[in-house]
Amino acid sequence: MRTPLVMGNWKLNGTKASVKSLIEGLEAAADAATNVEVAVCPPAIFMEQVANLTANNSIKFGAQDVSTHIDGAYTGETSPVMVKEFGATYSLVGHSERRQYHNETNEVVAAKFVAIQAHGLVPVLCIGETLEERESNVTSQVVETQLKAVIDVAGINAFENCVIAYEPIWAIGTGKVATSAQAQEVHAHIRNWLKAQSEVVAEKVQILYGGSVKAASAKELFAQADIDGGLVGGAALIITEFVGIIEGAK
Ligand code: 13P
Repeated sequence: MRTPLVMGNWKLNGTKASVKSLIEGLEAAADAATNVEVAVCPPAIFMEQVANLTANNSIKFGAQDVSTHIDGAYTGETSPVMVKEFGATYSLVGHSERRQYHNETNEVVAAKFVAIQAHGLVPVLCIGETLEERESNVTSQVVETQLKAVIDVAGINAFENCVIAYEPIWAIGTGKVATSAQAQEVHAHIRNWLKAQSEVVAEKVQILYGGSVKAASAKELFAQADIDGGLVGGAALIITEFVGIIEGAK
């Protein structure tokens, strides 16, 4: 059985005060949900604060992005080694906002995936189609291409120690959540596609759904056979919503 994972992606949001109240507001629910893994991905500048606030509870944390470089003349970047030093467990990689606003290609995403694993972090590989791609019925091909680009570089066995987040771009921040049937269809396709390469990997890998997940929609989404939790944006910034989403994964 795969343990469900509920992960908040805070994106470019937060203040020292809001970070403190969010973590303090989540810890009781996270500790009580013993069969659910709970994690947050703060902006890098809040990582030390989150590390301190989560030292004595079960909340894990990760980066939203890292450099492929470890150190050197790369202004503005954060290295996976630094993220690891602060005690992070995860790093997102290939979020659609990185692909769209920072021109991250599948090749860049693959290189980051490898760097994340090489330094002891678990990559959360984000994939998903645009509305145009969905309407052209190429969703399966899009997610396969995104996965294949990483597998070609990292190898299929690397997926034993990673998380996949299926985030249809048309559902991100739009309030248009995929129906549980729409999400399950793609999740099952991803798992079956992986199964053809490794049954072990396909059975083990957590596949999260992301895109306008709310407390009200979480339970039905997470009840689907191939949906192992959620990657949550906006609702992860509201304590009651995020607690409700954790409850939905129990
Ligand atoms: P929303 O939950 O705000 O749609 O964001 C989803 C997302 O992009 C999480 O990474």
